[in-house]
Amino acid sequence: MGQFLLIANWKMYKSLSQAQAFCRDFILLSRGIKKTKVVICPPFTALSTVNASLQNTGIKLGAQDLFWMEKGAYTGEISPVQLVDTGCSYVIVGHSERRQIIGETDKIINNKLKAAQKSGLIPVLCVGETLEERQNNKAEEIVRGQLLSALEGVSVTESNVVIAYEPIWAIGTGINASYQDALEMAGLIRQTLGKISNNKIAERIPLLYGGSVKTENFAAFLQGGLDGALVGGASLEADSFFNIVRLCENA
Ligand code: 13P
Repeated sequence: MGQFLLIANWKMYKSLSQAQAFCRDFILLSRGIKKTKVVICPPFTALSTVNASLQNTGIKLGAQDLFWMEKGAYTGEISPVQLVDTGCSYVIVGHSERRQIIGETDKIINNKLKAAQKSGLIPVLCVGETLEERQNNKAEEIVRGQLLSALEGVSVTESNVVIAYEPIWAIGTGINASYQDALEMAGLIRQTLGKISNNKIAERIPLLYGGSVKTENFAAFLQGGLDGALVGGASLEADSFFNIVRLCENA
């Protein structure tokens, strides 16, 4: 498994029984997949349950967030060590909903990313511009800045980070970026990563697109330059998520 990477971000959805039902259905559908590595990121409350369901399937578990300390008096927070203990191998860092709604800063995101790597989790770093920034021709500057600050002091390799380009105006709106827009940003992201590490590594770091991905629009994104997708709404039903897996398998 592994030519494509598809990550399901369930956000704040699903009860335990709904999470179990998804896993049961999705595991049946996805038996025998070869080209696609799948990661499921349930809410914290369902991590254990989903972890149990995914045993021996090859499907990986991820969390949607983490705290940057390993343990201590941090009421309500979840540490990277606890996520590893619960079976996670990936964690989403810097999602725009956390940046915008919770107020996460670049510095917090940098701390979280380092803490994830230190515990052996692969951070899925989300970057992306608002509609206003895009309209003012600031998209590249914003994304470059987000990358540089999140990765400050980090030694990146092809296996210790995943980058997801998620333009904020495309998230949950039904308006996806065009393949061309995503490809242009992928070029900028790889160029920036190349400066932090080197071009050979930058070429191999998995780069995902996220924002209103669904079966109807995702085939266009599989023409090269991107390694998969971070999927929100369309990852909530086993059928619709599997249809995206199938597109990758057939690409
Ligand atoms: P949607 O696929 O629902 O637009 O969400 C994208 C996203 O935010 C994934 O992290």
